[in-house]
Formats: sequence, C-alpha cells, structure tokens
Amino acid sequence: MVTARDIYFKQAKIQDLTDLTILKRLGFKPGIRDENINNFVHTMRAFPGGFLMMKLKPHWDNIGYVCNEIWREYPQSPEEMQKHFDLNHDIDHTHYPYGELLYICSMVVHPMYQGMHLGHLLLEECLTKLPRSHPKLKGAVLIVNEEWLPAVSICKYFGFKEKDRINGFFKAFGCDAKDGIIMEKNL
Ligand SMILES: CC(C)(COP(=O)(O)OP(=O)(O)OC[C@H]1O[C@@H](n2cnc3c(N)ncnc32)[C@H](O)[C@@H]1OP(=O)(O)O)[C@@H](O)C(=O)NCCC(=O)NCCS
Repeated sequence: MVTARDIYFKQAKIQDLTDLTILKRLGFKPGIRDENINNFVHTMRAFPGGFLMMKLKPHWDNIGYVCNEIWREYPQSPEEMQKHFDLNHDIDHTHYPYGELLYICSMVVHPMYQGMHLGHLLLEECLTKLPRSHPKLKGAVLIVNEEWLPAVSICKYFGFKEKDRINGFFKAFGCDAKDGIIMEKNL
C-alpha cells in the first residue's frame, strides 16, 4: 500500500516524456487521448507549475501525472467551447496565466497504484497549490467521461458539480460514444 508519505510531486520535465506517454496510454483509450507529444512539451513550457509528476520514493518512479492550464474565463460561445475542450488542443491557444479559471486537462495514476487514494492527492495538489501561486483563480473546471467513475467520485469529493454535458463527446475507437460531463467548482 502506497500512502501520501511515499510520494512526492515534481514539475514535469522533458526527460519525463517517455513515462508520460506510457501513463497516458494506460489511462486513456485510443481516440480519446491526445497523441501529439508536442502538446505535452508546450504545456511544460507554457505552464511549468501546472504540470506535475507524481513520484514514488525511494527511486522517484513516475506513477502519475496531472496537467493544467488557466483560461481567461469559462468559454462563452459554441466555437470557444469547441476550441477549449478539444482533447487535442494546444495550450498555446487557450492558456492565459492571469485568467480566472483553472482547467484540469488530464490526470492519470498508473493502474498498479490505483485505488490507494493517490488520485485524491493529485487533485488536491492542484486545488491547493495553484490558487496560491495564481491568486486570480476563482474556479476550476474539467471534463470527464461519464464512464470514468473513479474520476467522477474524486471530483465530487472535492466539491465539483456538474455544470454541463456534451452528448457523445468521448469517441474511443470501436466503442459507443460517451457523454462528457463538465464539472466545476469555486476556489
Ligand atoms: C481517475 C484516477 C486518476 C483515480 O486514481 P486513483 O488513485 O485510483 O483514485 P483514488 O484511489 O484516490 O480514488 C478513487 C475513487 O473512486 C472510487 N471508485 C473506484 N471505482 C469506482 C466505481 N466503479 N464506481 C464509483 N466509484 C469508484 C473509489 O471508491 C475512490 O473513492 P473513495 O476514496 O471515496 O472510496 C485513475 O482512476 C486513472 O488514472 N484513471 C484513468 C484516467 C482518468 O480517468 N483520468 C481522469 C480524467 S482527467
């Protein structure tokens, strides 16, 4: 059993890219994951403090990650919604460091370590640290697949509420499309 004392958070670096790619593939099915590795690199550069690796002591293995961006505000038009929630979008087109809304883009815990409360620690790390470094933040938002029950459960634990739903948003290859639930909380 791994607990909070066994883990440590560190900003993602270029040398983490291989582990990040593996974690992403373990976490998300083809068709609903961003396959463009450059987008990871852009996120590291645009918002280094918002891209965190979860490391396991004593060897500092990467066992999870969470990456974030900051939006000026919640998207106001269908075009803006599409641009911001596009799973393949480039942070350079949406990130605004002085914005009000934290967007939690992606988080994964390696399947070997799931169910040990580490997903809670990942989200808690973002929700406590980032508002301190970015005091203009007023809220946090993310989009989850209706099927990702652990993710939905963690979001509810931290007070996220359903704000919107995009029918058939998640289209994994060879699977029925699933709704995307947009969840939001005040900070
Ligand atoms: C989401 C994810 C990061 C959670 O990591 P984790 O370390 O397993 O999470 P935790 O152990 O902290 O919490 C999981 C919670 O889900 C609950 N859960 C697990 N399976 C569930 C199910 N089938 N139905 C409802 N709740 C479930 C657990 O009971 C636990 O809640 P609790 O602590 O209140 O009991 C991990 O499942 C993952 O990487 N999933 C794939 C990618 C993903 O879905 N990312 C989130 C979207 S951005």
